[in-house]
Amino acid sequence: MADTDPLVLAVDQGTSSTKALLVSGRDGRVVARGVAPLGESQPRPGWVEQSAEELWQSVRAAVRACLAGLDDPGRVAGIGLSTQRESMVLWERATGRPVGPLVSWQDQRTAGQCRELAATGAGELVRARSGMPLDPMFSALKARWLLDEYDPGRTRGRAGELCLGTVDSWLLSRFAPDDHVVEVGNASRTQLLNVATQTWDPDLLDLFGVPAGVLPQVAASSGPFPAARGLDPLPDGVPVLAVLGDSHAAMFAHGGWRPGVVKATYGTGSSVMAIGGGTGDSPGLCRSVAWDLGRPMLAVEGNIRATGRTLSWLADLFGVTPEALLAEAGDTPPDGVHFVPAFGGLGAPWWEPDAVALLSGLTLGTRRGQIVAAALESVAFQVEDVVAEVERATGEVRVLMADGGLTRNDRLMRLQAGLSGRTVARSGEHDLSALGAADAAGVAGGLWTFDDLEARPRPAEEFAPSIGAEERRARRAAWHEAIRRSRPGAS
Ligand code: G3P
Repeated sequence: MADTDPLVLAVDQGTSSTKALLVSGRDGRVVARGVAPLGESQPRPGWVEQSAEELWQSVRAAVRACLAGLDDPGRVAGIGLSTQRESMVLWERATGRPVGPLVSWQDQRTAGQCRELAATGAGELVRARSGMPLDPMFSALKARWLLDEYDPGRTRGRAGELCLGTVDSWLLSRFAPDDHVVEVGNASRTQLLNVATQTWDPDLLDLFGVPAGVLPQVAASSGPFPAARGLDPLPDGVPVLAVLGDSHAAMFAHGGWRPGVVKATYGTGSSVMAIGGGTGDSPGLCRSVAWDLGRPMLAVEGNIRATGRTLSWLADLFGVTPEALLAEAGDTPPDGVHFVPAFGGLGAPWWEPDAVALLSGLTLGTRRGQIVAAALESVAFQVEDVVAEVERATGEVRVLMADGGLTRNDRLMRLQAGLSGRTVARSGEHDLSALGAADAAGVAGGLWTFDDLEARPRPAEEFAPSIGAEERRARRAAWHEAIRRSRPGAS
């Protein structure tokens, strides 16, 4: 790479860390990386919080690490940002100080309010307008909780003294305290946006008790956004060219604007996503805005609450690392053990907040290996349950594009292909959300086009299905029986 080529800085602010990538503005090759961890706390069962200030500092630290070896930070022509979604921050407009904690997308504190709202029959309106089922994962009830706690009369909110925002919105406000803006894809995951018109929906704001004055202005994925400031050693004023939700960014990096591309991102939880799906009735899936780079692209998506989380929980329980746990289990079969990881209920495609986590099929001969195998299978079974729904909504799914940390596990990839009966294409790049943010930034900034991106080599390793149709059906039926038992009222 000539050291005069422009560079794009991609920042992926995720739940457990912030990653930064520097990519060549000529051919999109990654030339440097940086990472900074981010903690979370669980002050009560079901509650998950982060510090908005620490989150901002983790962005600064990741950028610093990424740019450490760069002689001339002035070569960075623009920034692409991808962020964890649904998490909510409340801050004071005048001081920029967070009011209360960041309430994480994983947080379940509003489960009771969710049930109460569902009992009034509001679920139908919420789904029709927002594209999403009533569920504590989405931001709307977190927004209500923050306001109830810190501005119960909504007086400060109505007076314009408080700002509510998703993580992208919060980070952009660090660049320019007077700007209160949110990217449309992130906004669509709040459950306050009308997915058809891409504007805040007055009936939803009413229902969730959120005054319009506390919400940011909705911007396309290409902005306009405030230019970056405070990201030392980057000079102030580098333009933010694109912002995307992290799952949407991963989809973008898979070339997900092309019909027929379906991806699964394996993280703490998992997200299965495809563009399209129209307005068809797919009760197990959400409809959201993937991105708007000239025109809004709608996507269908299913969110699974616990995939990587199941393995890290198990590893914690046994006092080892997830890697050691998986290595120790090797290829041990589950021998009839099933693990339904409904720690906080079940997400897509069941959306069953009251489902309980269960381990079934234990015998006196059951050892750690069988439980780990069942946990690993639960990841593949859950992903396939959502892929099957996506297939119903968008058409045949022959290949499933896979990305995220857990995809490094070959056994999981083989299981996924076998239990799905589909080819699984594992991305050769681990930081796909960051890469997608860089790809989108390059399109938005005119550094390359969609055609250029399609022509760009993106290596992927393919896993072909190796389980016969009959065995697959029997194993999925046994899994669905375990799911049935985890749901309320099961006998
Ligand atoms: O929907 C939540 C998702 O955006 C969080 O992603 O990668 O931070 O676990 P991640």
